[in-house]
Amino acid sequence: MVKFIKPNLPTMPDNVKQALEEDVTKALNNDEDLGWNRSDSYNFRTVEIDNKTVRSCRTHHSHLSETVENWIKENVVPHWLYATLAVTHPVSDLHAMHTDRTRRYLLIYMIDTGGDNVVSKLYKEKGQPLHRHVDNTNQVLITDYAEHKFEVLDESRVQPGEWVMFDTKVLHDVMNIQRERIAVHISIDSNFDFDRWEYTDAEGHFNGEDFYKAL
Ligand SMILES: [Fe+2]
Repeated sequence: MVKFIKPNLPTMPDNVKQALEEDVTKALNNDEDLGWNRSDSYNFRTVEIDNKTVRSCRTHHSHLSETVENWIKENVVPHWLYATLAVTHPVSDLHAMHTDRTRRYLLIYMIDTGGDNVVSKLYKEKGQPLHRHVDNTNQVLITDYAEHKFEVLDESRVQPGEWVMFDTKVLHDVMNIQRERIAVHISIDSNFDFDRWEYTDAEGHFNGEDFYKAL
């Protein structure tokens, strides 16, 4: 099974929400990208859809405050590759289909979805493996959206305040982006220990092992 999974994780307390709001304000004012020097083929990517050339959105990353990072470490997930505040700028309404290069799993805390009907999808390219470049040596950047080439595996309309996780080595995209889409991105490596990832809170029990099987 390959899906977007919404784990039942603890609710962020008000003081952490406040710190996160300040991080968002800073990110929107600074347009920081942590100095990540990514290729022009990613930064200025265009794709062909129905004989039209569409520019793809990209995501800028900035630092999270210690208050936010520490709360996530203590209450959500104990370790990660990197955690950032991610802002997708609406240069078009599409963050085009791709896999991620430097991380295996992405755990998202949604702050602003970027519109009323923003949808994320997972795909398999026909004739290609489901998981692509799992060794982090490269990524897939799809340039032709010809429908017959792809099978939709799952779709998600994650709401503000929700957590969602997926395997970034599976092709994914985001459609219908109307304004800045803002989320916390927690990037997790292949060797993450799902067996030991479990939480019990007022709303119920979350078991990482079961969760991993569905990813
Ligand atoms: Fe991605």
